[in-house]
Amino acid sequence: MQEELKQIRHEVLAKLKQVQTLDALESLRIQYFGRNGKLTTVMKGMGKLSKAERPIVGKLANQIRAEWSEAFEQTTQELHRQQQAQQLAEESVDITLPGRKPAYGKAHPVTQTLERITSIFTQMGFQVATGPEVETDYYNFDALNTPADHPARDLHDTFYLTDGYLLRTHTSPVQIRVMERQQPPVRIIVPGKAYRVDYDVSHTPMFHQVEGLLVDTHVTFSELKGILASFVWQMFGAETQTRFRPHFFPFTEPSAEVDISCTVCVGAGCRSCGGTGWIEILGAGAVDPEVFSAVGYDAEQVTGFAFGMGVERIANLQFRIPDIRTFYENDLRFLQQF
Ligand code: DAH
Repeated sequence: MQEELKQIRHEVLAKLKQVQTLDALESLRIQYFGRNGKLTTVMKGMGKLSKAERPIVGKLANQIRAEWSEAFEQTTQELHRQQQAQQLAEESVDITLPGRKPAYGKAHPVTQTLERITSIFTQMGFQVATGPEVETDYYNFDALNTPADHPARDLHDTFYLTDGYLLRTHTSPVQIRVMERQQPPVRIIVPGKAYRVDYDVSHTPMFHQVEGLLVDTHVTFSELKGILASFVWQMFGAETQTRFRPHFFPFTEPSAEVDISCTVCVGAGCRSCGGTGWIEILGAGAVDPEVFSAVGYDAEQVTGFAFGMGVERIANLQFRIPDIRTFYENDLRFLQQF
């Protein structure tokens, strides 16, 4: 029996050295020291031993248990350490890896153009005014001297809503709203959205305009020309020519459309300008006395001028986009180029 015990002691310590995991350690413990373990089984034969042998065997068994538990403790600790080190190595963060760059956002090209136009006019002393995009017939048309049978009121152009409301077809109604609540002098621009039932390479149902209005006691048409020519130089460069062409708008008299020399062919005539050398960028004129009387201004006392330009058209001249609808398709590959 002593031999058997010595054998077990040798075996278990040798096996302990091989153990790699805590699980294996636990099964080794059960295999030798558990209720049906090898040591336990051998010790069941104690009763058959002689009186002289018993204490010797008992002492030996105790020695083995003591040795084992010390070695078991050590191994357990060592395995824990190893396990932790491995976990740390696996879960560690490599701080030398380059970081992920956050996506870089910027203003939409039309917003960029809108901001540029706004900044040119604010530097010339204009204040920014805004108004509602959902408007009434009165502000969008009537007060702007646009009679009910005017073609601009045609269902084809205007998005009508219920209860007499509509989506403003231009930023001009803000002229009325500002003059209603403010006495002259007035010197404003109105950057904002407008809506029309229209969809082709040069029209989108929602688009942007910048309206301008200057009202004071001696405002002349030549001031209007000076301000717009200065705007054109700042926006498109000093070599760009400006041309005023007689036109009709219900809310201005006289009225003009303003053309600039084609930025692509510099006046020679190309596809962009339809061979004319000129591109129309805005409408303008002297404020019609009817508009003044709609807001309670005395047309004998004040004069004024107004203008309105399409922002997408101007963005297009800057960026040369063949189809302005691409501005609103939200394709980042397109938008990121600006
Ligand atoms: N509201 C006009 C349009 O949308 C543009 C315009 C023309 C505005 C002449 C004006 C103006 O203020 O005087 O076509």
